[in-house]
Amino acid sequence: MPDNVLEVTGLHRTYGTVRAVEDVSFTLREGGSLGIVGESGSGKTTTARIIVGLERADVGEVLVHGRDRTGRSRGRAQRLARARAVQMVFQDPYLSLDPRTSVEAVLRETLRLHFPGTDHPRRVRELLDQVGLGTRAADALPRQLSGGQRQRVAIARALAVEPSVLVLDEAVAALDVSVQAQILNLLADIREQTAIGYLFITHDLGVVRCVTDDVIVMRAGRIVEAGPTAAVLAAPEHPYTRLLLESVPRPGWDPDRIAAARRALR
Ligand SMILES: Nc1ncnc2c1ncn2[C@@H]1O[C@H](COP(=O)(O)OP(=O)(O)O)[C@@H](O)[C@H]1O
Ligand SMILES: [Mg+2]
Repeated sequence: MPDNVLEVTGLHRTYGTVRAVEDVSFTLREGGSLGIVGESGSGKTTTARIIVGLERADVGEVLVHGRDRTGRSRGRAQRLARARAVQMVFQDPYLSLDPRTSVEAVLRETLRLHFPGTDHPRRVRELLDQVGLGTRAADALPRQLSGGQRQRVAIARALAVEPSVLVLDEAVAALDVSVQAQILNLLADIREQTAIGYLFITHDLGVVRCVTDDVIVMRAGRIVEAGPTAAVLAAPEHPYTRLLLESVPRPGWDPDRIAAARRALR
């Protein structure tokens, strides 16, 4: 059995009177893929930000490879160590990429920070290749790339660090459906090659079905259901999960009935 790379226990986070995250616990095994699904405002991003150290928990514990990573990292060494364990890819790479820095320079900067004294040009070529960007993209600035290409750059930058866990927060939500499929395939290939673990955060059950082994369903800060993805999607036990599944538009779909069911759930 692979070890757990990530163990999250009893996370709580409130903002004023808003209980953003309430008693959230889960584990991710090495090389595994866990989905967190739920509607907007259910606490997914707050959970992710606590795990990568961008946000602190009021209560609870985050262990990465058995080491306590709860709370914000202090000092350069701690920040680097944590970054090597967990990397995050956001919905909009535009916001996380410097508009004046070329693709190659972005990757070199990251490599210099984490692996000083190694052969960076070779590693840059490897990374570009791994995310399906040709060497021609190396000199490009973010604005010269498509949305899908930019997300590939963000993924390459995360992989440069060789993390154990990649947290992807709505990482394909802003992309066209066909580009979405390309990026999801790419992520599946990368997982096979590297045994990197994914924490895949999305409001989209189709995405969960594609790329996760297990899933947790969050509603208003709490986990309402958890289990193997195939089982949860085939036979959801919680009414909220059923509602999420029924909310996916398809032939014969009745939004009024869904809205009524949603009101009844409150
Ligand atoms: N920095 C913050 N300040 C105040 N409220 C916040 C902050 N971050 C998140 N929240 C609130 O916490 C709840 C959960 O938000 P979030 O974790 O972003 O959910 P999701 O990612 O599932 O959409 C929401 O009600 C949101 O408004
Ligand atoms: Mg979010």
